[in-house]
Amino acid sequence: MTMFRYLLGWILLNYCCFRISEGGCWWPTPFPGSTWLDSTRDTITFTTETLTGFSMTVPGGSISNWECLDNSSFAGEKILVIKSTDTFSLVGATWITYLCLQMTEVSTNSFVYYQQAAQDPTGGYNRALFSQNGMITNKATICSGTAVPPAEYHFMVKQGEELNSLQPCGSFLLSKFDYQVTDTSSTVSCDSTTDNWDVCTNTSMIAFNYTTCATVMAYSSGGTVYCMATVSADGFQYQTVYNPSSTPNKFACIVVNSAGSAASFINNNCTVGQTPTSYAKNHDGTNIGYLATMTKTASCFTTTTTTTTTSTTSTTSVTTATASGTTAAAGGGGGGGGANSAASTDGGSGGSIIPMIAGAVVGILLIIIILFLIYWFCYRKRRFCFKKKDVGHSDANANSATGAQVINSKEGPADKNGPTIIPDLSAPIT
Ligand SMILES: *[C@@H]1O[C@H](CO)[C@@H](O)[C@H](O)[C@H]1NC(C)=O
Ligand SMILES: *[C@@H]1O[C@H](CO)[C@@H](O)[C@H](O)[C@H]1NC(C)=O
Ligand SMILES: *[C@@H]1O[C@H](CO)[C@@H](O)[C@H](O)[C@H]1NC(C)=O
Ligand SMILES: *[C@@H]1O[C@H](CO)[C@@H](O)[C@H](O)[C@H]1NC(C)=O
Repeated sequence: MTMFRYLLGWILLNYCCFRISEGGCWWPTPFPGSTWLDSTRDTITFTTETLTGFSMTVPGGSISNWECLDNSSFAGEKILVIKSTDTFSLVGATWITYLCLQMTEVSTNSFVYYQQAAQDPTGGYNRALFSQNGMITNKATICSGTAVPPAEYHFMVKQGEELNSLQPCGSFLLSKFDYQVTDTSSTVSCDSTTDNWDVCTNTSMIAFNYTTCATVMAYSSGGTVYCMATVSADGFQYQTVYNPSSTPNKFACIVVNSAGSAASFINNNCTVGQTPTSYAKNHDGTNIGYLATMTKTASCFTTTTTTTTTSTTSTTSVTTATASGTTAAAGGGGGGGGANSAASTDGGSGGSIIPMIAGAVVGILLIIIILFLIYWFCYRKRRFCFKKKDVGHSDANANSATGAQVINSKEGPADKNGPTIIPDLSAPIT
C-alpha cells in the first residue's frame, strides 16, 4: 500500500510538472466559445482552450485541432501562439505543429492575420514550426522574423457578425465600372460597353448587374458581395469580400490597381503572385481565378476617401533560429518506455529551457527518492521483495504504463494555469 501511494504521488507530480513545462492558456476575448468564418479555412471554432477546424495540409494528410499555447502577447501585439494537438508522421517520426498568428483587428469581430513563420519543407511548406519533442514554449522561437508576403494574409469574422463587420471598400474600388473579364482559358466575356459594376450605391458593397453581363463575378451567384478588409501593399489593394450567397466558400479576394483599371479575382484567400494583371496561383503554380479590366463610368466621390488599411509588414530584426532548427532535437534520451512517453519527455532544445531544467531536476530528485524508498521498503520487508519478485516487477510496469498514459492525456485538472511563457519579447514583431 505504501508503495502504491508513492507511485501515485510520482504519477501526479510527473503529470503536474509535465503540464507546466508544456504551457497552455485560455483564448483571450473575443475568441472563447465562438465560431468564425475564415477566408482560408472555412469554419473554425474556439472553446476555452482549443481550436478546431483550423485545417492545414501536412505531409500525408491534414491537421485541424489546436490548443492555446501563449496568450500573453495578444493584448499588446495581437499575437496568438498556438500548438497542434493533432500530430502527423513523417520519416518515422511524429511531428507537432506550432503557429504564430500575427493578427490585426479590423473591427471588434473581425481580424486579418498572418502565419508569422518561414515556410518549412518538413511540414509541406506551411508557415509553421514543426517539432518532434512538442516541448517548445518560446514565443520568439515560434514567431520567426521572416517576411511574409502581404498577399498571404487570412481573414476571419465571427459567425453572425458578418454584416456588422463591413468596412468601406478599398479606395481603388470606389467607382462604377464598365468591365471585361478574361478567364484562365482566355475566354473573354462582358465585352459590351454597358456592363455595370457598382461600388457607389453602397460603398461597403460591390454589386454586379447580371442583366447586363451574366458572367458570375466574385464567385457570387447573387452578384452582391461585401467589403470586409483591405490590405494595401505593393501599390495594390487586396480586397477581401464576403459573399452571403455562396456556400461553403464565403470569401473572395480581389486585387486591384490604383488606377482602378485592372483586377484579379480568386475564391477564398488571395495568393502569392496574384496581382491586378496576373492570375492567382495554385500550389503548383497554375493560374486560377480570372482577370478583369475596367473603365470607370462614375466616381463615387469628388474628394479622396481614406480607407481601412491593414498593413502587416514584418520587420526582419527578430533573431531566431530558422523554422526547422528545432527539428533536430528528437530522440536523445531513449530508454525503454513507450514511444509516446519517450518522445514527450525528451528535453527539447528549441523551447524555454528553464521549465525543462526545473522539470528535469525535480524528476531526477523524485527518481532518487523513489529508488531510495523502494530500497528502504525492500530492506524492511525483504521477504516481500526478494521472494515474490513478480509483485515488485509488475508494479514497476504499472508505473511506466500509467505514467505514459497520463503524460499524453489531454484531460486533466481545470486549473492548468500555464506560466507566463515569455513575458517580454526583446525584439517584438510589429
Ligand atoms: C491567458 O490564459 C490564462 C490561463 O492559462 C488565463 O488565466 C488568462 O486570463 C488568459 N489571458 C487572457 C488575456 O485571456
Ligand atoms: C490560398 O489559396 C491558394 C489556393 O486557392 C493556396 O494555394 C494558398 O496556399 C492559400 N494560402 C495562402 C496563405 O496563400
Ligand atoms: C450597405 O449595406 C449594408 C448591408 O445590407 C447595410 O447594413 C448598410 O447600412 C448599407 N450602407 C449604406 C450606406 O447604405
Ligand atoms: C441592371 O441592368 C439592367 C439593364 O441595363 C437595368 O434595367 C437594371 O436597372 C440594372 N439593375 C440595377 C440594380 O442597377
